Amino acid sequence: MAKIEKDFLERKNPTKRDFKAEPFIPRKPIPDLGHEKLDGERFYSREFMQKEWDSVWTKTWQVVHRESELEFDGSFITHSIGKESFLIVRGNDSKIRAFYNVCQHRGNQLCTLESGELDTFSCPFHGWKWNNDGTLNSVFAPELYKQFKDGVPTEELGLTEVKIDTWGGWLWINMDPDCIPLKDYLSDYGEHLESYNFENWALIDYQTFEWNGNWKHAVDAFNESYHFTALHPDMIQFGEGHDIPIEISGNHSRMINFNETVSEVVEDRETFTPLRSEMMGDRSVGKMQDIDDGYKGLAKDLHLYYIDKRRSEEDTITYYQDMNDEQLVHQYHYFFFPSAVFTNKPEAGNVFRYRPHPTDPDKCYYDFFILINNTDNKELPPRRPHKIYKGNGPELYDEAFEGTFPPVFNNVLAQDGSNMETMQWGSKSDSFKGGILCEQEIRVRHFHQTIDKFIEKYKK
Ligand code: FES
Ligand SMILES: [Fe+2]
Repeated sequence: MAKIEKDFLERKNPTKRDFKAEPFIPRKPIPDLGHEKLDGERFYSREFMQKEWDSVWTKTWQVVHRESELEFDGSFITHSIGKESFLIVRGNDSKIRAFYNVCQHRGNQLCTLESGELDTFSCPFHGWKWNNDGTLNSVFAPELYKQFKDGVPTEELGLTEVKIDTWGGWLWINMDPDCIPLKDYLSDYGEHLESYNFENWALIDYQTFEWNGNWKHAVDAFNESYHFTALHPDMIQFGEGHDIPIEISGNHSRMINFNETVSEVVEDRETFTPLRSEMMGDRSVGKMQDIDDGYKGLAKDLHLYYIDKRRSEEDTITYYQDMNDEQLVHQYHYFFFPSAVFTNKPEAGNVFRYRPHPTDPDKCYYDFFILINNTDNKELPPRRPHKIYKGNGPELYDEAFEGTFPPVFNNVLAQDGSNMETMQWGSKSDSFKGGILCEQEIRVRHFHQTIDKFIEKYKK
């Protein structure tokens, strides 16, 4: 048990209530998933990419966007996953539906806009039109089709529908018509996260990065914190990640990154250095990052102070009532197989999403959503437009998240992004004998084993 967990367990006034999110501490044993090496081929083989498409991407629930993006009847967004594009639209009957974004005439991409409001969608090629409930509106010059001499078969020519559901204010789609309901798919971890009441959260930024590495290298990089010490030396100055509680449940997994403390691998865990003063403290919106004047303790113990403080404030800051003591301070990090991460503190959080490139296993898309808890429904400044950034370096992330994310974290993302390229490169080397995973990398092992399980299940 790490010292921080011992300090946490020995604190004076632990809250004794049942919460939706099961605490991590005391730590549960990590299951034995074997010690097999992780082969490099799965990261670059086109054959493996196809198997993933057939067995994973087309069989699982994918988070798309906030439901609030579809505010009005006719509001729509388009979203791509690998080779497919989807049109998600609130019809004039107010119902939200999802369709393959494909014209039924000759297969052109129907809508090329990222978002907007429309009553009908008209294909740019020959002008066939669909209503915003997916039904065919009109075929241009139907008299030119012999096969329509008895009338256009409107029923047959509707857009092809995809399953859609909502959870926590998020839209999710699934290409598998026989899929299990979203709530069942998210299962116990979905219930844990109900404690954050995401319906009340607001999206303040959303950007995409094209990374030069396979999507699984991105998933792996964010599903363990063992790499913080080497790759992100700043992160261990104001948090603990190198040895943390990790859990697995079904296809999904979770971990806790300790905040408002200093990692045990750092010698001086007591002083408030300038970096610690900048990155630790009360992160509630409006008073970002100032450490209370009243706090006279050590840097490593700040988390204990904030647990007590926030619990004492729960009559006024009511969303604390639903959170266990760990959640009041620390970062809860949930991964829903195969592509969605929800990582949160009480006041703010991120959703990461990983998407495969349509054709190239050496590339992927990393989508980054920044949200704040907006329970009190504050008026927020307009969101900057969503862009797809290519390249690397901290400036890219500074530009992408100007004003919405601390520069230290932009730097961390740049480190992860450039590490993707070197991982992709190394996976292909004839000298690479396969990845060796420690217990702190158990989510990586579990993720790859889950992919293999899906491939086995849907084998043709
Ligand atoms: S391909 Fe769309 S109308 Fe012809
Ligand atoms: Fe990282």
